Amino acid sequence: MRRIAISVAASTMTLSLAGCGVLNASGDSASASPTKGNDVTIGLLLPEKANTRYDDFDYPIIKKQVGSLTKGDGKVLYENADADAATQAKQMQQMIDEKVDVILVDAVDSHGIATSVKKAKDAGIPVIAYDRLAEGPIDAYISFDNELVGEVQGRSLIEAMGNIDTSTKIVMMNGSPTDPNAKQFKQGALSELNGKVTIAKSYDTKDWKPVNAQANMAEAISAIGASNIAGVYAANDGMAGGVIQALEAAGVTKLPPITGQDAELAAVQRILDGTQYMSIYKSYPQEAQAAAQMAVARVQGKNIQFDALTRDKVDSPTAKDIPAQLVAVTALTKANIKDTVVADQIYTISEICAGKYKAECSSAGLK
Ligand code: BGC
Repeated sequence: MRRIAISVAASTMTLSLAGCGVLNASGDSASASPTKGNDVTIGLLLPEKANTRYDDFDYPIIKKQVGSLTKGDGKVLYENADADAATQAKQMQQMIDEKVDVILVDAVDSHGIATSVKKAKDAGIPVIAYDRLAEGPIDAYISFDNELVGEVQGRSLIEAMGNIDTSTKIVMMNGSPTDPNAKQFKQGALSELNGKVTIAKSYDTKDWKPVNAQANMAEAISAIGASNIAGVYAANDGMAGGVIQALEAAGVTKLPPITGQDAELAAVQRILDGTQYMSIYKSYPQEAQAAAQMAVARVQGKNIQFDALTRDKVDSPTAKDIPAQLVAVTALTKANIKDTVVADQIYTISEICAGKYKAECSSAGLK
């Protein structure tokens, strides 16, 4: 799926044909909605609420960016499916019925959503897959390099555990099986972990829910014994929180290294006080702003701009050479909190250093 490099000849061809208005950016001849001005309506479908990124960052940043690209005339209709694929299909149908100009969808179930993507496409509404690669005839995809996310998590865990051999036991807490990102995170992590440690227990966590991760971790602890767990690969911060709760409930006082992803505020604070080892900082502004730019360019018929925003290419199980943008990621540890989430104004130092974290902040040089 990770196929970033494209030949110059191929990209030039797409650019020139799309530029002449012969083909749309995905290279097929089905026409997109006619060119619009600033009065665009963008449908935004986000997948769940148990992890904080969607309501805290993705939605507000997309909304703001659409506003600034359209001189305040553009609208974002936002729905969150709360981890329910059937709800998301209904929400998408509603957006089709309301004749939005373009849909950005972060799928609960990337396979299941294909029928809805096709319906939108048949109604002349372009669909851009946001963060998770939806199946079906999508026009473009915006995400991070998700296999790299897993590689960085796996490598960080190995480094943090230090003295290990192939009998060293770890637990893997992977994401939802309906999310293709979860599979990529896992693949990336396994490429670093296989052959170096024993994966004593591995779970695919239903709906990415922290409570489910907590229950799975409790089961892993009874099977393996808390003192035999040298590290935990948790695919994101919400689940890292559940894993920590299970370990603490089992009486563990010195926690093993635990990974995460998303740079949630609670995780940044846990990294500060050493409860969580690391997270992955993915620049939400970069992803969300690019998504807004792609959506607006698509409906305004700015094909050259759209192609410039989607120079990567990915394949889904149902479509080849999908125009894409994959944003880079950074490992977030205690050492670079200031250079990442603070520098990018994701959080202020006073938000991070509130209450009991004040002392940790001064020792980490966060002022
Ligand atoms: C996203 C992660 C997120 C997870 C749970 C994934 O598709 O890439 O950032 O933590 O879903 O919502």
